[in-house]
Amino acid sequence: MRLNVIEHDVVIVGSGIAGLRTAVEIKRRYGEKLNVGLISKVQLMRSHSVSAEGGTAAVIYKEEGDSLALHAWDTIKGSDFLADQDAVWLFVKLAPEEMRLLEHWGMPWSRRPDGRLAQRAFGGHTYNRTLFAADKTGFYEMQTLYNKLLEYDGWERYDEWFVTNIHIEDNEFRGLFAINPRDGEVYLFKAKAAVLATGGAGRLYSFTTYAHTVTGDGLAMALRAGLPLKDMEFIQFHPTGLVPSGILITEAARGEGGYLKNNKGERFMARYAPQKMELAPRDIVSRSIMMEIKEGRGFVDEASGYEYVHLDLTHLGEEKINERLPAIRELAMKHAGVDPVEEPIPIRPVAHYTMGGIHTDSYYRALNAEGRWVRGLFVAGEAAAASIHGANRLGSNSTTECLVSGRIVGELAAEYALRTKEAKGPARERVEREESWVYHLVRKERGTPTYQLRRELQETMNSKFYVFREGDQMRDGALKIEKLEELMWSEAYVEDKSKVYNTDLILALETLNMIEVGKVIARSAIARAESRGAHYRIDFKGRDDKEWLKHTLTLRYGERDVRLIYEPVRIDTWKPTERRY
Ligand code: FUM
Repeated sequence: MRLNVIEHDVVIVGSGIAGLRTAVEIKRRYGEKLNVGLISKVQLMRSHSVSAEGGTAAVIYKEEGDSLALHAWDTIKGSDFLADQDAVWLFVKLAPEEMRLLEHWGMPWSRRPDGRLAQRAFGGHTYNRTLFAADKTGFYEMQTLYNKLLEYDGWERYDEWFVTNIHIEDNEFRGLFAINPRDGEVYLFKAKAAVLATGGAGRLYSFTTYAHTVTGDGLAMALRAGLPLKDMEFIQFHPTGLVPSGILITEAARGEGGYLKNNKGERFMARYAPQKMELAPRDIVSRSIMMEIKEGRGFVDEASGYEYVHLDLTHLGEEKINERLPAIRELAMKHAGVDPVEEPIPIRPVAHYTMGGIHTDSYYRALNAEGRWVRGLFVAGEAAAASIHGANRLGSNSTTECLVSGRIVGELAAEYALRTKEAKGPARERVEREESWVYHLVRKERGTPTYQLRRELQETMNSKFYVFREGDQMRDGALKIEKLEELMWSEAYVEDKSKVYNTDLILALETLNMIEVGKVIARSAIARAESRGAHYRIDFKGRDDKEWLKHTLTLRYGERDVRLIYEPVRIDTWKPTERRY
């Protein structure tokens, strides 16, 4: 059997903002001294980061009253005190420099009339600190980083390659496996260092703002390789998903002055967050919307059956909407038949972000269950749980984290690669095992198509692990997911038997990843017997710092099972208090 091997000094998996920023950092520091491979399951510029809309948070004008301490405090309070405070400090300190670098590299930030950078309000921030480029911030950030990367040589892209597994031996990164869509072969990538920048897991839900590609692949791979996933019970539901599609209606719509209204025309946030109103953190706004709906003050979309409330922008006027929220106007018109200049937009909470991720330290080095760094392995962006966002992320902190973490791991991975003599790979037998694992689904002649299993998983996640959660419901959900996993191994099959561009096979491998991650979310959520941030249990309503001020780590146990262990939250400055907004 032919052994397909590709070698780089550093390999990056994922070409969103975090992956591109990592590549730029390596190149701008070390140029052609290091050779970089950039693997993406999509065409590079189609990464999900392009759909980030509202902006990127950082402290820019201290003379106007903002401060790093204020940004850190907002983030920690927003996290419901589950964030590690040393990680948050590092994040807020590095953020301003990232904004300036992007500016120098050509980012078309929106500006004030005097030419200074414009910053808008976002939920849970006490200061208007979100920089933006109209409502297409992620797209422009991606374009800026890509343009910067094009200035350098010594990197190669592997667009549409699908990474199946990473290999760790002796607590060290020893390579990863990927399918080349053009010949259908499994390749071994050897590298001295690797960065996983694979994003979150939002497609486990069908009502979601995520692209179809965000299927938790990096998380599942890490789990299979024996690494812990951290705080996976915390899934963020963004308050304003367009009904019925789930497309993101940016929080900037409220930052620019939009109102949330129920079927009585009331700005109902006065009941739940009288000071911050529509700009309370997302966990609180999403719960408030669902309470209004539960108590009969919502609307119903007859075609989809979705209940919703209104996001009203009509008082902002056409000029402001066109200047600050042009994409929102277009999306609402195209996908809901509503012109926000004239009418309110139908919205409801939508799966938007994975607060948890691969367990790392505050420098985004991947950690094993004993808390030791897995040499050569780093994680950046949403795939990582450093943990900055804890139980609830503040809007506009995520693109910032992609930039900051990419910068940190770019430097660390480069330095590690420079001082490492050679890229070690696994034994040949391990490569052969990967090939047979990958193709076991294709060999089966009949069974259940995996899209059916995917759909059932999404329905389970939508109904059992949404904004309000309850023990028995979640246990039902967990049983269902375990059944789906059994079916995945016994029944699932891939109809397309060809090798070239076998997207049916990729769909199946993604579905397996989704089920494995779904199981982790379910187990972590059932175990956490309290309400904190985005994890709200109607059977355990309060936050319980005595028992639960700790991180959940989920580890693979045996062939299929998982086990949970816990780790303290690092609190060095601010003691937990009641969150009021
Ligand atoms: O609402 C938004 O524009 C989303 C921003 C974010 O998730 O940070």
